[in-house]
Amino acid sequence: MKVAVVRETYPGERRVALVPSVVPSLTKAGWHVLLEAGAGEAAGFSDSEYQAKDVEIVHDRREAFQQADVVLQVRSLGANSEAGRGDLELLKAGQVVIGSCDPLGNPQAVKELADHNVTLFAMEMIPRITRAQSMDVLSSMATIAGYKAVLLAAGHLPKLFPMLMTAAGTLVAAKVLVIGAGVAGLQAIASARRLGAVVQAYDVRAVVKEQIESLGAKFVELNLDTGDAEDKGGYAKQLSEEQVKMQQQQLADVIAECDVCITTAAIPGRPSPLLVTKDAVERMRLGSVIIDLAAERGGNCELSKPDETTVEHGVTILGPTNLPAEVPQHASQMYAKNLATFLLLMTKEGQLDIDLNDEVVRDTLAAKDGQVQNGRLREMLDLGPLVLPETSPPDDHLAGEA
Ligand code: NAI
Repeated sequence: MKVAVVRETYPGERRVALVPSVVPSLTKAGWHVLLEAGAGEAAGFSDSEYQAKDVEIVHDRREAFQQADVVLQVRSLGANSEAGRGDLELLKAGQVVIGSCDPLGNPQAVKELADHNVTLFAMEMIPRITRAQSMDVLSSMATIAGYKAVLLAAGHLPKLFPMLMTAAGTLVAAKVLVIGAGVAGLQAIASARRLGAVVQAYDVRAVVKEQIESLGAKFVELNLDTGDAEDKGGYAKQLSEEQVKMQQQQLADVIAECDVCITTAAIPGRPSPLLVTKDAVERMRLGSVIIDLAAERGGNCELSKPDETTVEHGVTILGPTNLPAEVPQHASQMYAKNLATFLLLMTKEGQLDIDLNDEVVRDTLAAKDGQVQNGRLREMLDLGPLVLPETSPPDDHLAGEA
């Protein structure tokens, strides 16, 4: 069986779905790996590095799709809705695509791939359970984004982060506030601390208090009366309108005192909660910086704009939407490891084996046999419950020689 890695076509995307160091794990399991020429270059991996790991370089993208049983992508159609459209005519019926595709943000694209009879695995839907941690691309990429957000903030702040006692006087450490202490937020806290900032962090889930404190930051407690703000999947619940108002008002007092505010608050499949209002921005000191990691889905800051840097009331506001692409080498390394682990989970004794009894495989499967497979996506698309053809075996496997 052949697995192909193709060049990314999304504007500014510099990651690649597979890096040379991860290839041997796949070849050992029986996969023949193809690479569209130059696919790894922007991430710092030359064709010759792949060739040294027995990867076959294919010069024509069409041929890569033509030959492959499985295609690995960083961004498939849903996460690359304009340029990704060109791949639709290259995909073959029954071909397996593994990549990120923004299924909850763009379920229509999953439907389009289902209509093309593609078997699509949406890596964003890997369940956040212990066994699947090594396949969790959202966590890997959020780690990169949290780190990079701090560096961006440090680059725009007209101050240093650490406290310095010099012959020319004492410089006070920068004050950083991180809102949302999930994967990106915790990495931002750790990175800001390493640069010497004084860090505070807030999250609606009180359970993260301990994690925040273990990184040397102060947990900001608000008086919201949220009770248990965590659902059974470990994600934040949506707050009531009144709680949202109280949260914004109380946060504004904390935001006014900080030099840098990094926001990462998210509830999967919902617009970003609005946490930093225009009024809160107006109260910040001149030169302060806001990095809104949630800008792609509406933003945590009322004034942030996706992929723009604006200055409002003397405050620099950035809404970068693809920070992992700014650190393409390590981001690709992590992403590739996640993808390869997932593909290997579906490789049994040299065969591709899509075992829907496995929760990780089942939850990640977005489209197969011409149908959108995931219940939540079907609901979003008004498709009604999935009806399996009578001939389908109860234990739905798709097998082929690897
Ligand atoms: P996560 O789900 O691990 O963390 C989100 C955190 O936000 C959770 O701890 C949650 O409790 C908290 N939260 C939710 N509602 C809140 C509220 N009203 N107030 C305070 N906290 C609240 O998510 P992860 O993986 O850390 O990603 C965070 C954000 O960063 C997401 O929006 C994600 O899309 C984005 N992201 C952005 C990237 C970029 O380049 N801009 C790259 C990767 C992720």
